[in-house]
This record gives sequence, structure tokens and C-alpha cells, in this order.
Amino acid sequence: MSAGGQRLVAADPAPGERRFEEGLRPRTLDEFVGQERIRENLRVFVAAARERGEPIDHQLFHGPPGLGKTALAHILAREMGAEIKVTSGPAIERAGDLAALLSNLGPGDVLFIDEIHRLHPAVEEILYPAMEDFRLDLVIGQGPGAQTIRLDLPRFTLVGATTRAGLLSSPLRDRFGYLARLEYYPPEDLVRVLARTARLLSVQLHPDAALEIARRSRGTPRIANRLLRRVRDFAAVYDGRGAEIGADRARFALERLEVDEAGFDRLDRALLTALVEKFGGGPVGIETLAAAIGEDRGTLEDLVEPFLLQAGYVDRTPRGRVATDLARRHLGRSPGPAPVQPPLL
Ligand SMILES: Nc1ncnc2c1ncn2[C@@H]1O[C@H](COP(=O)(O)OP(=O)(O)O)[C@@H](O)[C@H]1O
Ligand SMILES: [Mg+2]
Repeated sequence: MSAGGQRLVAADPAPGERRFEEGLRPRTLDEFVGQERIRENLRVFVAAARERGEPIDHQLFHGPPGLGKTALAHILAREMGAEIKVTSGPAIERAGDLAALLSNLGPGDVLFIDEIHRLHPAVEEILYPAMEDFRLDLVIGQGPGAQTIRLDLPRFTLVGATTRAGLLSSPLRDRFGYLARLEYYPPEDLVRVLARTARLLSVQLHPDAALEIARRSRGTPRIANRLLRRVRDFAAVYDGRGAEIGADRARFALERLEVDEAGFDRLDRALLTALVEKFGGGPVGIETLAAAIGEDRGTLEDLVEPFLLQAGYVDRTPRGRVATDLARRHLGRSPGPAPVQPPLL
């Protein structure tokens, strides 16, 4: 079982959360908060393409889950006045499936392929000439009698999204006109995301309460929106619907939800506590750490560790994981040097 699946601070959408998210999706580049450089560049591409009367170049959005890749894909289509067709790497099982998708595109359409790093290699091959020359090479039949039929495709824009850009093959990566890496959002940007969400949900959110939520949202709009929804539940029960949510109420709710000031939940704290208290700050292997807190290694590696590493609470060394001063301070320990480790036998 993966405890990560139900975590309030998980970066992936919870089951049933997508509909809620669709209602909150920014519709235009102006509504999209933060990521200024990417937004400015996209604005230029859109304006230039519109001026030429052509679709924009293929775009790849990469970065951690919940930062707005899907939102940007939809925004681009909208800004171009184009239709968007949505699919994902794992959903395209055979080359023929992609050929069908491509041959159904109209001029200027956006084809959005989420999780594009999970495309099957045979499927990817179809994509190369389609992206480069707007051409579909279909092989009919097998063996010596096989024939290639060439179909012209309308000019379209491929938008790919991935959390794992490193897994993309270079021929695929090279065919994108623009690669945009989305970064974690600073709290002040998340405050703006929350203000917008609060408006859409008709929630009265005091700016201090927004900041309280923002700080605990791990730099991720998806988590910020989710926490706001939960905080709203507490406020509705304790203060009545429509009452303004202040910082105290937000803090109270977040404490009840066990999301601490750094955005850590129980699992994060269990890892940090074991690392610092049980293993003297490390280095300790991930297997040992996983056993100590009763989680499986995969959950730690995929769902817990990335944020702790990124936020500088844990370091990865050849001999295992070590806690940083930040981690010690977070647990209320004095930073100081790590205790001397006995030599490894
Ligand atoms: N920059 C942003 N401004 C406003 N809302 C955002 C922003 N980025 C993400 N969101 C919201 O956060 C949620 C997750 O975004 P999404 O595009 O699905 O992330 P990703 O595809 O990168 O996992 C959506 O509800 C989206 O509207
Ligand atoms: Mg997405």
C-alpha cells in the first residue's frame, strides 16, 4: 500500500480532484500566476505566430507535478484560438493510435501529450516526421511487400508535458521549439493563486491566512488549492459559512490536518525524525530508513524524498542519506556538527 496516495501534501491529484481543478484552471496567460519568464516567452511566441498566421512551435513543459503544465497547454490553445486534443503517453498503445490522432487534427490544432516520457519507442518514431515535416509515414503490410504511404498533415502544435524530462530521448527533445522548465512557486506567488481560488470559491480569505497556507504548500499551486479547500471546511464548521478566514483559523486547521510550517506531513516528519534521532543524522541507506519508519522504499524515493531533497532538508551521498542543519533545526535540534559515525564494517 502506498501511504503517498492519500497524502494531503501529495503533488499528484487525489482521486476525484480533477473536476475541482478544472474549475480553477486559469484561462489566459494573464490569469496564470508567476513563472514570469516562461509567460513572457509564450506571450511573444503567441503574438508572433498570430502575426504570421501560423501555429506556434512545439512546446515542452517539464517540472514537478502540480505546477501548471496542463493549465499552460490549455491556455496556449486558447490564446491561439485553437482546438486542443488531449492524450497521454501511456494512453497511446500502438503506432496506429497516434496515426489516428494525428490524421484527425485540423489546421492549427494543439495536440497535448501528457506524460510524454512514457511514449512507446515505436509510437515516438511516428511523431518525428509529424513534428518536423507535418508528415505521416504509414507502413502498410509486412515483409518485402510492405509499402510506405505518405500523408500530409495540417500544421499543428504539439505540446508535451513531463515530470521527467531526463527520460525523453534526444531526437524527441530536439524537435521541440521551446522547452520550459516550471519552477516551484515562492509563497508570494502562491498567495496570488490562493486569492484567485478564494474568489472563485466565494471564500473570504484574509491575506495573512493565504500566506499561512502558501508557506505550507511546498511551492505547488495544486497543494495550495487543496489545503484551501480543507481549511474552508474547518472554517465553515467552526465559524459558519461566509465568515472571513483569518490566519488563526488557517493555522488551527492546518495543525489539525498535521501539515506543519514547512509543509511537511507525518511521513516527512517520520523520515526526518528517524534520520536525525535514530541514525544520528546519517549517512543511512534508503532501505534501512524505510524499514525504520515502516514504509516501502519506493514510496520514500518517489513521494517523500524529492521534496525534502529539493528543499534542502536531506542530502543524498554515496553512503546514504544525511540530514542537513535545516532538518535538525526543523525538529528543534541544535544544528552543530553531525556526530562521528563508527566506521562501516
Ligand atoms: N500559475 C498558476 N496560476 C494559477 N493556478 C495554477 C497555476 N499553476 C497551476 N495552477 C492550478 O493548480 C492545479 C494544478 O495545475 P496543473 O496544470 O494540473 O499541474 P501539472 O499539469 O503541472 O501537474 C490546477 O488547478 C491549476 O489550475
Ligand atoms: Mg498535468
